[in-house]
Amino acid sequence: MDTLVVDHPLVAHKLTALRDERTDSPTFRRLTDELVTLLAYEATRDVRVTDITVNTPLAPARGVRLARPSPLVVPILRAGLGMLDGMTRLLPTAEVGFLGMIRDESTLKAQTYATRLPDDLSGRQCYVLDPMLATGGTLAAAIKYLFERGADDVTAVCLLAAPEGLARVEEEFKGTDLPIRVVTAAVDERLNEHGYIVPGLGDAGDRLYG
Ligand code: PRP
Repeated sequence: MDTLVVDHPLVAHKLTALRDERTDSPTFRRLTDELVTLLAYEATRDVRVTDITVNTPLAPARGVRLARPSPLVVPILRAGLGMLDGMTRLLPTAEVGFLGMIRDESTLKAQTYATRLPDDLSGRQCYVLDPMLATGGTLAAAIKYLFERGADDVTAVCLLAAPEGLARVEEEFKGTDLPIRVVTAAVDERLNEHGYIVPGLGDAGDRLYG
């Protein structure tokens, strides 16, 4: 598994504002949207393209277009929905599938309550959107599900990650050679006893949707 922490002053600036408890819900949604677009730029660095030639008013020019099948963007409901527009702004032709997952706050285990994805993900590059990678249970289950459905490679875009969560995802797929990347704005200090990222930004779902 590869982890990329996007080191950029605009990313740090927007993340700091997101963390601030005084940031209200409309501002939080806007900042999430902007931050995701910046993370998406890095997350799509390996998106597959096909060589093409177009005609400018003067001459043929070689270029590329996104390869087919188009990438699949998978927000994890509910909080991942707040990241969808920021991602599809850069990948407007991507298909979108949905995974509804919730973490049981007493056991910290992830449960899947809804899936709406294409049946066959063979050959698809998938981009999972989930703001918080805490214990890693949710993301590990989501990645496993996508590979079981035939996905080719999976990149997770997270606003924040905990070291424990990254280690858990790494451990789950150790020795499998499955192409997995996590792109995040920061890796925080730790999880607290309730499984929250510290210092984190609180509950992203609540801050986005109340
Ligand atoms: C949060 C978050 C992740 C998950 C992370 O969602 O958005 O999906 O918890 O936790 P984990 O890494 O320990 O599994 P939550 O279950 O609160 O649902 P929500 O998006 O509906 O708020």
